[in-house]
Amino acid sequence: MPLHQKPTGKLISFEGSEGSGKSTQISLLAAHLQKTGKDVVSTREPGGTEIGEQIRNIIVHNSKGDEMCAETELLLFAAARAQLVREVIAPALLAGKYVLSDRFLDSSTVYQGIARKLAADPVAQINRFAVGNVMPDVTVVIDVPTEVSLTRLKQRTTDLPDRMERENIDFYNHVREGYLLLAKNMPERVILVDGTRTPAQVAQTIWEHVQVRLG
Ligand code: TMP
Repeated sequence: MPLHQKPTGKLISFEGSEGSGKSTQISLLAAHLQKTGKDVVSTREPGGTEIGEQIRNIIVHNSKGDEMCAETELLLFAAARAQLVREVIAPALLAGKYVLSDRFLDSSTVYQGIARKLAADPVAQINRFAVGNVMPDVTVVIDVPTEVSLTRLKQRTTDLPDRMERENIDFYNHVREGYLLLAKNMPERVILVDGTRTPAQVAQTIWEHVQVRLG
């Protein structure tokens, strides 16, 4: 699949802590775009392909997960992303579709780079290698205070928390700060929205921004 052709579709990534409301907002934006006649593909990271879902299992559900070092984690997320880009995202963009991705490379910048404290340069290089030239046209960061995020997470899941969800509040504070920094440093690509309002209000704000950014 050629990654060098100019795509006519658009890639919109959604980022934020656990429980920030990304998947609800992806469904609402997908419905909105479809009403305006757009062809929409929704996907998620890690996962979105058979290989990616297997990698997701290794990262979040593996019983030996506590022994996984941060470098391995970074490379596994990147491997799942490389597959998703080539198998799903790039072909959809070349076919003129709107791709909505629940997380993309900024998750590695924030979770592995900032929260796990891996050096920024290798994280950026590995991210670039995984995505080739497929970068989001717009990234929506949904911001909620860490306490809200963790409360929503507890309410949402009846299962035991997975490996990432077992991290402590400090880790999630770093994740939040990382996303706020990203939004500050990349205003041309990143939209920061307040995720504590109702889903309908958040969706309206996202829709307005997307229309302005993507025409
Ligand atoms: P999800 O539960 O939002 O689907 O994401 C799975 C977990 O993986 C979540 O805790 C965020 C984390 N993650 C990273 O740490 N780095 C990454 O690059 C990605 C895509 C996800």
